[in-house]
Amino acid sequence: MALRLGDIAPDFTAETTEGTINFHEWLGNSWGMIFSHPADFTPVCTTELGRTAQLKDEFAKRGVKVIAVSVDALDSHTEWVKDINETQNTTVDFPLIADKDRQVAELYDMIHPNASEKATVRSVFIIGPDKKIKLTLTYPASTGRNFTEILRVIDSLQLTANYQVATPADWTEGQDVIVVPAVSTEDAIKKFPKGVTIVKPYLRTTPQPNK
Ligand code: BEZ
Repeated sequence: MALRLGDIAPDFTAETTEGTINFHEWLGNSWGMIFSHPADFTPVCTTELGRTAQLKDEFAKRGVKVIAVSVDALDSHTEWVKDINETQNTTVDFPLIADKDRQVAELYDMIHPNASEKATVRSVFIIGPDKKIKLTLTYPASTGRNFTEILRVIDSLQLTANYQVATPADWTEGQDVIVVPAVSTEDAIKKFPKGVTIVKPYLRTTPQPNK
C-alpha cells in the first residue's frame, strides 16, 4: 500500500555515493528529504540534483538532510555527479542511493508501472524528526520539481510543529499565518503577543511568530 502522511518512513540500509547508509540512523533527529529521479545522465534530473546542491545552505538552515535515489548503479551515480557539478556549477554533497535491486523504490512506492516499469518517478518525501512522513509529492518524469516550493512547505511544516500555526494559500515567508483550530481564541491571544486578528471564529491570523 502506498505510504500516507503520518506513516513512519520505512527504514533501510543501502549503498550510496557516501558509503553504506542506514536511513534512520543517518537521519538521527533531523528532518529529512528523500527524493527519487528516473535515471542518471538525463537532462531534467541533472538540473534537479544540481538545484538541490545549490540550495545546500537553505536545507541546512532548516535542519533538513537530503538524500536522492534512483535504480542506477553506484559507478553510474559517481560518474554522473561529475557532470552535474560541471554543468550546474555546483558541488553535489548529499548521498545518492544506488537502488539497483529496487529495495528503496519498492518500500516508498516510487515505481509507477503505468508511467514506467523500469524507472522511479519523481517522488518527494519530507520526514520529520519523529520519522513520520509529513509531505508526499509525485511529479512525472518530464517535469522538473520546484525546489523553492519544497522549501516553502518545509517552512510551513516547521512553523506548525513549533508554533501551532498553519499557512494560508500561496503563503510565503514573512506573511501572516493562521492559528490552528485546536488553539482557542483565548489561548491564541496569550500565545501570540504580536496580536490575533479574528476574521471569523474559525479563521484567526497572526504575524509569523518567528520573524
Ligand atoms: C530527464 O531527467 O530529463 C528525463 C528522465 C526520464 C524521462 C524524461 C526526462
